[in-house]
Amino acid sequence: MDSIAAIPESEYFKAEAHLYRYIYSHINSTVLKCAVQLDIPDIIHSHGQPITIPQLISKLEVHPTKTGCVERLVRFLVHNGFLLETKVNNEEDEESEAYTLTPSSKLLVKAMEPNLAPIVRLVETGYMATFDFLGSWFKGNDKTIAEMAFGVSMWEMLEHDPLRLKSFNEAMASDSQMITKVLKDSKSVFKGLESIVDVGGGTGTTCRIISEAYPNMKCIVFDLPQVVENCSGSKNLSFVGGSMFRSIPSADAVLIKWILHNWDDESSLKILNNCKEAITKKGEGGKVIIIDAVIKEKDDDDGMMQVKLLFDILMMSTLNGKERTEKEWKKLLEAAGFKHYKTAPLSGFRSIIEAYP
Ligand SMILES: C[S@@+](CC[C@H](N)C(=O)[O-])C[C@H]1O[C@@H](n2cnc3c(N)ncnc32)[C@H](O)[C@@H]1O
Repeated sequence: MDSIAAIPESEYFKAEAHLYRYIYSHINSTVLKCAVQLDIPDIIHSHGQPITIPQLISKLEVHPTKTGCVERLVRFLVHNGFLLETKVNNEEDEESEAYTLTPSSKLLVKAMEPNLAPIVRLVETGYMATFDFLGSWFKGNDKTIAEMAFGVSMWEMLEHDPLRLKSFNEAMASDSQMITKVLKDSKSVFKGLESIVDVGGGTGTTCRIISEAYPNMKCIVFDLPQVVENCSGSKNLSFVGGSMFRSIPSADAVLIKWILHNWDDESSLKILNNCKEAITKKGEGGKVIIIDAVIKEKDDDDGMMQVKLLFDILMMSTLNGKERTEKEWKKLLEAAGFKHYKTAPLSGFRSIIEAYP
């Protein structure tokens, strides 16, 4: 057996710690979920000032035998950037530690928008357990780990599980709150458009915000029938059920947000071809507006790259999809016959690609 004695001792134990951080990294997401389940972001938000551990305990519904663990949970959340430690003086003028929210945990407060708590709630054992299949998925010919775990594709599983469908749609809606914050200000993207169809638009959060920002634009949310069946529109917002693999309602422009990363190139080409068919204003500003991640091997910093690579593994294994590099987007859009396209980063880890037929 080869010896690793050649590795300097400092590196050797750094490597051990590196391994342990990954071995137990699922605890990161479950602790975050636990903080949401215990309403910690909401409690600190409504407290309105830095909260001490006794004050937090008095508001948490934890069992008396667990109150001593709250301080350790808080220490973990501080270390990982979800709480900020500060000092306060009590009535006797004694100094003690107190805690406030950070930008990341403010995104988990129910009373604020955007609120990403529904995405955190998707961290449930049913989904997480599918990752146990990852090793055997690589060796077998199953399409996805979702099919290995549930016997059907993720979309079919959601169709037959109303509770999971509801929580998935809520999670997607909360992500849309995030994106529409910047999209609303991207006036040049919507300039001259009289109608838009949001393909795979879920329960319509993105399209509703666009319809309110542009009251003269006809906005259509198009998604699977079971997703849109109970959604109600407004004067310039309507919902249509169907499959983007069959046909898409016509409009000046087609929006596809967080859709193409769910699909492999073959399926994405079908979707893009149907999008092109649906565009009424061909050659006159009609376009497909894609919102998705673009992997930029040279420009992405470590944090951005990590998010994109995590999503890539998630898409690869659960949906047979992928996060694409700049080169892969170029290849896909050229294969779909778009004459030209332009890409601009949105704030965050996604970009906006406007592709013209
Ligand atoms: C990742 S979600 C994105 C939802 C939304 N665009 C957003 O960003 O919040 C993918 C969406 O595609 C929808 N979808 C899946 N298969 C579809 C199909 N064949 N036709 C139309 N929509 C579909 C799903 O129901 C889901 O709402």
